[in-house]
Amino acid sequence: MTKPAGLKLVERDADGVDLAFRADVLAGLAEAQKAVPARWFYDDAGSQLFEDITQLHEYYPTRAETEILSNRATEIAELIGEGRAVVEFGSGSSVKTPLLLSAIRPSAYVPLDIAGDFLRASSAALSEKFPGLPVLPVEADFMRRVELPAEVFDLPKLGFFPGSTIGNMIARTATDLLRTMRATLGEGALLLIGMDLVKDEDVLLAAYDDAAGVTAAFNLNLLARINRELDGDIPLEAFAHEARWNDPFARIEMHLVAKRDVDFTVSGRRFAMRAGESIHTENSHKFTKRSGQMLLAAAGWEPLARWTDEAKRFSLVLAESRPPRSAP
Ligand code: AVJ
Repeated sequence: MTKPAGLKLVERDADGVDLAFRADVLAGLAEAQKAVPARWFYDDAGSQLFEDITQLHEYYPTRAETEILSNRATEIAELIGEGRAVVEFGSGSSVKTPLLLSAIRPSAYVPLDIAGDFLRASSAALSEKFPGLPVLPVEADFMRRVELPAEVFDLPKLGFFPGSTIGNMIARTATDLLRTMRATLGEGALLLIGMDLVKDEDVLLAAYDDAAGVTAAFNLNLLARINRELDGDIPLEAFAHEARWNDPFARIEMHLVAKRDVDFTVSGRRFAMRAGESIHTENSHKFTKRSGQMLLAAAGWEPLARWTDEAKRFSLVLAESRPPRSAP
């Protein structure tokens, strides 16, 4: 069993406030460089805005990764082999997951997600597309080791972590997660992971600051969510969306920059910002072949194969879990 009955994954106070959300926001706004973790973007409005982002001309990652999965399906399937249980870290996308599942003839599909409603909806849709494939959703926080369903215990596993979501994490958190994935998947596991690539700065900046303003709306929606769920009075019109390329860390950063001096209240606490100060809301790390390989190696994953789209914007890496050894 993944969680004891009655123990809610999302803990709320008597007013229905998500305690982890409040703790993250209050701690983050109290820092010298204000920051809120990117995972809080994804309320219903934020999830819809992210879907809209994936359709934007400027936002290439989703299209590039889908291109790899469809054009290289045969090669990918040959290396993975038949009969693996696919464990997806996240609820799965309606396009990428079916592409993978139809390519490899898996023995089961196990999506892991903390958002139970979303998980059940996407699992139902997938079951319909793949009659005969056991679909076994698990409501869990995959940042911790997850107990997989008994049905897949003895089956070989393939972890699937598309979208370059690994890029949202700083190196130490990414390494922790990749190691935790090895623990969740067990011996002999493979991992198919999407990693977005370093490229021309203008292309990257446009992908995170599109002309139609969808990414700006996605970023600003975080403030609307704070106001609604944490009894805040942040004036949205006082903030501007900004995407920055941080070269030493090879990452796009998203910030909400105060256009003027501003003060506001969240959950009864006062905060003040000067014009030009920002709230850092997201990192999206970009990789090279070597930096991606190094990150995987640091967590005990040995790359077996790597594919990119035609334009070399995005990579998909297949890696194998390696037990630690005491000598080179
Ligand atoms: C879902 C984390 C892969 O970093 O590209 C898109 C999120 N943020 N536009 C990314 C996102 C702004 C996206 N990931």
